[in-house]
Formats: sequence, structure tokens, C-alpha cells
Amino acid sequence: QQYDFGMVGLGVMGRNFILNVADHGFSAIGLDTDTAKSTALHQEGSGKPVKGTTSKQEFVSSLKSPRTIMLLVPAGGPVDAVIEDLLPLLDKGDLLIDGGNSFYTDTNRREKYLSEKGIHFMGIGVSGGSKGARFGPSIMPGGPKDAYGIVQPILEAVSAKVNGDPCVAYLGSGSAGNYVKMVHNGIEYGLMQLISETYDLMKRGLGLTNEELHEVYARWNTQRLQSFLIEITASIFTTDDTLASGKLVDAILDRAKQKGTGKWTSQNAMDLGTPVPTIDMAVTMRELSALKEERVQAEKLYGTTSAISGDKKAIVDQIEQALYFAYIITYAQGLAQLTTASEEYKYGLELETVARIWRGGCIIRAGLLEHIRQAYSKTPDLANLLLDETTAKEVNAVQAATRQVVSYGVTSGIPVPALAACLSYFDAYRSGRLPSNLIQAQRDFFGSHTYERLDREGIFHTEWE
Ligand code: 6PG
Repeated sequence: QQYDFGMVGLGVMGRNFILNVADHGFSAIGLDTDTAKSTALHQEGSGKPVKGTTSKQEFVSSLKSPRTIMLLVPAGGPVDAVIEDLLPLLDKGDLLIDGGNSFYTDTNRREKYLSEKGIHFMGIGVSGGSKGARFGPSIMPGGPKDAYGIVQPILEAVSAKVNGDPCVAYLGSGSAGNYVKMVHNGIEYGLMQLISETYDLMKRGLGLTNEELHEVYARWNTQRLQSFLIEITASIFTTDDTLASGKLVDAILDRAKQKGTGKWTSQNAMDLGTPVPTIDMAVTMRELSALKEERVQAEKLYGTTSAISGDKKAIVDQIEQALYFAYIITYAQGLAQLTTASEEYKYGLELETVARIWRGGCIIRAGLLEHIRQAYSKTPDLANLLLDETTAKEVNAVQAATRQVVSYGVTSGIPVPALAACLSYFDAYRSGRLPSNLIQAQRDFFGSHTYERLDREGIFHTEWE
């Protein structure tokens, strides 16, 4: 039998993705050096046109030409190792697809290396976790456009759908797919941090029980905050602990781990000179959370929080408004980074398309993305989502409540750094005049770094005294 599609790496993501491919009528073969994994695919795929093998020779020789081979192996060294391993067995015109969270410069390097050998290479972001891979992820492909045509029917079939629209589209050249996925993850970090701050405000500040928290998030998920992350948050508060009494969430150590994609987003934003303070703060807070022992010591020295006083129901309503504000600002920052990166790296991204394929399947899917898609459809070269008039109306309506909520955090000692970063970003972005003139004066004062003037052209320097 000649198979339509090959998958290298049969961990949970690879196995689920290949089963999804087979569900849509494409025959598929999976390769993993681990016998247990290839056997597991065999068993789970019984009755489907799918096979697992540990032999790379069998794998490569059973694929239809030109071959379509996707890699779902850990980012970094393992991707290069698999490429080197398969390369001698491949033919010109074959397509290799890296579906992992690879760093975008690695993708550029691999594409160049393989294209010199006549092999097409694409870096594709796949989001939605293991369930997404199995039943419909959001897929972010980048690379040579002609090569995309080879795999387009399969990706469109397996992706999530929103009103029948597949959550996949060719995004741009080179590492565009991995870059968009990286920023997706940065936004994911931002939204997760923001939701955790609202949890803290309502739990420590207002004393809401897990049952009440569940109700709040479940309600928000039926309204304008509707999104995957709010949906799973609601479910978390009803999940029982199986090892002790109470809810599981209360037994989980408050130390957030990371695999690095959010940090990459922040690091690259700094390199590009594009501000994403909410994402920066989300990364910083994961780092701060890791200092558990120090935090416990410091709590003894400085005391902890005080309650937020007032009408609980009204305050919960304000928190909803603040979170909606912060959602908009976080997407705005990430999308602005994509705009800058697209120019810098010549990706040719269309942000309407990015917003469209993020509406379903991925971790940051949200009802709000349809509004964002419309904004970029109306103005494709929108410099920042905040400059869209419809968005401005939404933001203006929740601005006052956001200020209140940030002040509750500040007064009660509950950290709300990501909410505050959203508000400060907004306040700075909408300031026609910032105090940066003073910074320029200081730079010129101590270092003769020169300055420009508001009222005339040219570069100036003053002998300050
Ligand atoms: C997705 C996720 C996925 C991964 C996260 C976890 O889109 O499906 O983003 O790629 O689970 O990146 O990242 P951290 O381990 O860094 O939190």
C-alpha cells in the first residue's frame, strides 16, 4: 500500500494528529523508534487506513510520491536529527513539515539547507493540545507557497472549522508559521496570567468559593469573554481532588513552569522594538512564581493581602470588564508584533487571516477574534487594533471599570501586574504626548546624545548646566 501521509514521532500529539488524518480518509503511516508507540498507533488505528512502523526504510518506501512527511518531535536537536536520518532516503520534490514549536530561525536554516537538496520544507504551527490534534487543531503553515499546495487538502480536512471555514491558511514565506505560533503562545501566556489575576482578586480579595468561581467563569464564557481558556478555567473549579478531599486546584503547587515559547515572544519583541508588556509580565510572573520558598519567607516579613470591600456582585462585574479590556489589549500587542515582524522578516502576513484561523481549534480561540478579524478585514494595514473605531468603542466602555479593578489590586496588595501592564500600555499608547522628552533631555545632558524638536527639523545638542 502507498500511503498519502507520513508522521514521524508518535507521542501523544503525533499519534492524535495521524489518527485525525486517517479519520478524514487519507491513508497514513507513522514512524517511531519506540516499538510501544508504533504498536499503540496500530491498535488505536484499527479499522482506519493507518499503520505504525519502527522502520524508516519501510516508512519512506510506503509513501506516495512526492512524499508528505510531518515531524512532531521535540523542538531543537531532535528535529535536525530526524531530518539527517531521513534525508538519504528522500527524493527531490518530497515535502518535510515540522509541526513542533520550533524557533523561527531554526526553520529558516532548515528550509535553506533542504531547498539546496531539492526537498521542500515547511514550518507549521499546530495549536490545540492533544485534543486539538485529534479532533481539529488550528494550523499555521509557513514556507514555500507551491509546496503548501501538496498538503493543503489534508490540513484543511483535519483542522478545526468555524462556520465551515477551516482554521488553516497559508500564512507566509519562510518561518512565518512558526513565528505566528510563537506569538500565539505569547498571547496564551498573557491571557493565562490575566485570568489568574482575576482568580486571585475574586478568591483572596472577595473570598469567592470554588463553586462561586466556577459559576462566574462559566457565565463569562457565555458572554463576550467566551474563549477556550475561560471555558477550561470554569471546569477546573469543579474538578475534585482524587488524592485528598476538596478541589484539585487548591492542592496544586503555585509554581508555573514554561517551555520557553512565551519568553521567545518577549525576547524577539525586544529585538524588534515592539512593545508587548503584558506578555513580558506573564513571563516574569512565571519566573516569580518559581521563587516559592523566598515568597513564603517574605510573606512572614511583609504580611499578605487585605480583603477588597464593597458589593461583591458589582466588583465581579467590574472584574469582567477589566478582563475584557485586557483581552483586547493583549491581542492588540501580539498582533502589532506580527505586523512589525512581517515587515522585518518579509513574511507577507495578512492579519485578517491570522485572526480567522485563530477563531477555532487553538488555545487562544475566543469569540473576540471574529471582531478582530473584521477590524483587519476593514483595514488590512491597521497599525494597531486599538486604532480600529469599533474596538475603541468597546475599550472606552470598559476603561473606567479597569481602572477600578487595578486600584483594588493596588490597595489590597493583590498582584495584578498583567492587568496593570494592559492599562499602562493603553494609557501610554493613547498619550499624544509622553514624558519621553525629559528622557531625551537627560540623555543629551549626560551623554550629548542629541535630541529632536517638536517645532523644527534637525538634530540638536545643548550644553546643559
Ligand atoms: C498549543 C500550546 C502548546 C503548548 C504550550 C505550553 O498551542 O497547543 O501552546 O504548544 O502546550 O506551548 O507551553 P508552556 O509549557 O511554555 O506553558
